[in-house]
Amino acid sequence: MSNTSQYQHGEENNINSLHNRQQQKQQHPVVQAILLQNNSFASVNSSTPTSNNTTHATSHQSSKIKKLTQTLAWRSAHVQSPNYSLTIESKTISIQQIHTESELYGTGAMVWPASLVLVKYLEWTKTKWFSTTTTANNKRRGKTVVVDLGAGTGVTSLGMAFLLSSQQNQTSTNEEGRKNKSLVICTDGCGLVVKLAKKNVQRVAAQQQKLLKNGPSDNGEIKKNNSNNNSAAQDEDTFQIESCEIRVREYHWGDGTLNKELLLEGVNNNDDESEKGHCDIILVSDCVLPKLYPIEPLVNALDELSGPHTVAYISYEERYYPEYDPKEYFMALAVQKGLEVKVVPQQEQHPVYSVEDIEIWEVRRKRFGV
Ligand SMILES: C[S@@+](CC[C@H](N)C(=O)[O-])C[C@H]1O[C@@H](n2cnc3c(N)ncnc32)[C@H](O)[C@@H]1O
Repeated sequence: MSNTSQYQHGEENNINSLHNRQQQKQQHPVVQAILLQNNSFASVNSSTPTSNNTTHATSHQSSKIKKLTQTLAWRSAHVQSPNYSLTIESKTISIQQIHTESELYGTGAMVWPASLVLVKYLEWTKTKWFSTTTTANNKRRGKTVVVDLGAGTGVTSLGMAFLLSSQQNQTSTNEEGRKNKSLVICTDGCGLVVKLAKKNVQRVAAQQQKLLKNGPSDNGEIKKNNSNNNSAAQDEDTFQIESCEIRVREYHWGDGTLNKELLLEGVNNNDDESEKGHCDIILVSDCVLPKLYPIEPLVNALDELSGPHTVAYISYEERYYPEYDPKEYFMALAVQKGLEVKVVPQQEQHPVYSVEDIEIWEVRRKRFGV
């Protein structure tokens, strides 16, 4: 699959989505902005400015134009640039992208708009999800474990690491007086993409440690003494972002290896069998696209990693698929696995980084009898 021929970040994708949305009597943000601007010029030229209704309508239109202009700015940012910069928790980090015709990278070498919507949603709602996760966690092992599926460049994992660190700094110890800890596992199924994510994580970790000047090593890696067999490999792939660790590894959705790894490490290893080997938070950005990737393995991965307290935050960009509606299909598969999906209303998302055609879903295990 080539980035330019089948699935492209830039114009072709916009044209496809424009075509789809025109079918749904909606228009692409660019077209909406132009039409709104033309309409508002026309209404300003042809109406009496003293009319209250006209003033109200004009101000409504101008706030809509403002939002559309903002959307255009972040949505088209760095489409062709080798680096994507993300500001999170007042820090700006740079993510390397690879614009290549080569099919070897699939779609994972670029930062997709849905990842920005997801990271900014998590930033906007950080107090809420962090306190829910740590409350559940404090009763258990005190370590928050996040798994990022189909992470591509690693942008969502890095964003999450900064968010976890800043929240941990504000609530420095848990109920038992232990320091809160967290681990983000950044995964992708494509080996070359994993290498790119690792490079990005390593570079950002090294920059952070330079800033702190007291990091464990110059290149951001963590050297630890683990007793299990995977320890050497894990140490090489694990980096420190402020107070959060990030491990980068290859993982093919639903292959069972990640659950095994979490079990070996004793993640959520308490008396409750249903919690063992399950993570606290799962991130998925722009991976529901059956034109390229079957949805079943993704839902299997969610099932494999979800315990009773796990929440998955998924960003989904609507794209036309002739055979079925990807959203409906995903939801049907999730229900079969005992998962329930809540669509987060756009008003609850970040005021700037939210758009009609990118949704956020929260997926949890269905609790019976509730
Ligand atoms: C459109 S990209 C999204 C990348 C990133 N999450 C973002 O939003 O910028 C989809 C990613 O899913 C990964 N992927 C697709 N099928 C997969 C599978 N079965 N197992 C693991 N990763 C997979 C691809 O390698 C690719 O990196």
